[in-house]
Amino acid sequence: MMDATGAPGDAAAPARTDAADTALLDVRDLRVEFRTRDGIARAVNGVSYTVAPGQTLAVLGESGSGKSVTAQAVMGILDSPPGYVTGGEIVFQGRDLLTLRGEERRKVRGAKMAMIFQDALSALNPVLSVGAQLGEMFQVHEGTSRKAARGRAVELMERVGIPAARARVGDYPHQFSGGMRQRIMIAMALALGPDLIIADEPTTALDVTVQAQVMDLLAELQRERTMGLILITHDLGVVADVADTIAVMYAGRIVETAPVHQLYRAPAHPYTRGLLDSIPRLDHKGQRLYAIKGLPPSPAAIPPGCPFHPRCPLAQDICRTDPPPPLYEAGPGRASACHFWKETLDGAR
Ligand SMILES: Nc1ncnc2c1ncn2[C@@H]1O[C@H](COP(=O)(O)OP(=O)(O)OP(=O)(O)O)[C@@H](O)[C@H]1O
Ligand code: SF4
Ligand SMILES: [Mg+2]
Repeated sequence: MMDATGAPGDAAAPARTDAADTALLDVRDLRVEFRTRDGIARAVNGVSYTVAPGQTLAVLGESGSGKSVTAQAVMGILDSPPGYVTGGEIVFQGRDLLTLRGEERRKVRGAKMAMIFQDALSALNPVLSVGAQLGEMFQVHEGTSRKAARGRAVELMERVGIPAARARVGDYPHQFSGGMRQRIMIAMALALGPDLIIADEPTTALDVTVQAQVMDLLAELQRERTMGLILITHDLGVVADVADTIAVMYAGRIVETAPVHQLYRAPAHPYTRGLLDSIPRLDHKGQRLYAIKGLPPSPAAIPPGCPFHPRCPLAQDICRTDPPPPLYEAGPGRASACHFWKETLDGAR
């Protein structure tokens, strides 16, 4: 069971939930800012979520909403300076990762959690064969001999569906298609048997059919190994079949969280409603798609009150004044950071 709780912008820490007690990962009131010459960009403003073993949390939101920065903070790969974690906890398997230093932190990152990026070509080393890169993981982390490491690299390549893996283990990244390269990156992420995978737009660069294949593979491996998966995406269509829970981000906050099918059926936040109305649907052929007016705010100038109010068709006076709406409980396992979540939910039904 996963849940995302906590009132964004609230100084008080949110109450602990049962989900948090059994969680693999429990992110609590996380805050990240970038200190640049142009000022302070508040990229993450009190994000809380939990992921249990074997569960998939999809994180959704427009460009710049803080999806990747949250993930980078969890992985411990935040670009620092200029990025700093200024508050919160990242409890992974019972330990707050923010209290770990140097080698200890690297150990967790290497073996227990792994990240898959959008662009496999820049994530893989261009001058090493894929077999050497995969094998190196076993040699360095597990002291496996070179020959045995190569054998395990072939096994992994087979598992992620690379045809003729034995013959291709000596090939270089650029010799593979985009979809195959993405499979290799998944193999790299899986190599050391992590408990948590964070996939940041893992299929965005691929064409639609290949996207579906790679997503299916990821979901299958995640089930097989009971890993937690955080799936970051722009694309609501991609997550419908694979995610258990969705957290929608806006201006560095989670504005809605819900079990995936409930969120699709009836969103409880006007922003989620706008996102849903802007995806093409087969049953609404020919209908003009809705687009949310305006642009998301810069993290250096987040509007007071509800950060979505300048774009929200339902905004009232209360929406323009601080503090921002807390995450109201909007049903079992559901929360919405909208003063008018009930009206939104009723309107969607
Ligand atoms: N290295 C950096 N230096 C300064 N600001 C940064 C840096 N990385 C991210 N930011 C700021 O943090 C905000 C959130 O960025 P993030 O990459 O998390 O967005 P995102 O939700 O992943 O968007 P996308 O869908 O485009 O990947 C951005 O608006 C950006 O201004
Ligand atoms: S709090 Fe107000 S502005 Fe924000 S989403 Fe709800 S109705 Fe819109
Ligand atoms: Mg991103």
